[in-house]
Amino acid sequence: MTVKEALNSRFSCRVFSDEPVAQDILEAIFADVFRTPSCENSQPWEVYVAGTEAMKRLCMEYENFRKAKKPADLSNRFNGRWTDEMTPRIDEYFDGIVEHEEKGNFEYTMQKRNLFYAPVMVFLCIDKELPDWSLFDTGMFAQSLMLSATEHGLATMASAVSVSYPEAVRSVLHIPENKMPVIGIGIGYPDNEAPVNGFRTARKGIEEIHYIL
Ligand SMILES: Cc1cc2nc3c(=O)[nH]c(=O)nc-3n(C[C@H](O)[C@H](O)[C@H](O)COP(=O)(O)O)c2cc1C
Repeated sequence: MTVKEALNSRFSCRVFSDEPVAQDILEAIFADVFRTPSCENSQPWEVYVAGTEAMKRLCMEYENFRKAKKPADLSNRFNGRWTDEMTPRIDEYFDGIVEHEEKGNFEYTMQKRNLFYAPVMVFLCIDKELPDWSLFDTGMFAQSLMLSATEHGLATMASAVSVSYPEAVRSVLHIPENKMPVIGIGIGYPDNEAPVNGFRTARKGIEEIHYIL
């Protein structure tokens, strides 16, 4: 698979099948992903992998928090605001999810479905003291991971919801308090019967590039 093919075929998989991911495939993916560049070669990412049993424990913790009506903690990520120019795209995205969601309920996708039933979730963490560049670097690591997984025939799901209860992530994965779980990326084989997996999002056009010649 070429980079072009991986870029164009990756999509957010919101329902994974039960099929497990072989450890040697995961290791092959990581071997390439660790080539991701970073500011001053700091390589700020710390990688924690939740396997099937850990995912069950995490989903249970999330369920308990939800039942207790504990508010999700996304404060360290959603502290800015989207610009007005983005509003139509974001609205279109939410509408698209609802149209493709068998229960017609976005909240179901975001919360009720237990972390997309991912058999494996890779949590990328950074030390809380690090500069903003480290978040940027971790984002690049995340994209490398998703493209490499795509090349290996796997689907991926990067989600804010996966880190919405950071203390649950910390306790299940033994992540120290001074580390911030930035993102969880589900990896597995897609459930091709799930309508929501047929949802494909639109993109800004390349005509929006500002060429100053
Ligand atoms: C940082 C980040 C957080 C995201 N959080 C969620 C989430 O919590 N729930 C969800 O359904 N999708 C989430 N997504 C998926 C995006 O909605 C998706 O990437 C975007 O709509 C583009 O669609 P595509 O990934 O299928 O190309 C997230 C993606 C990123 C990069």
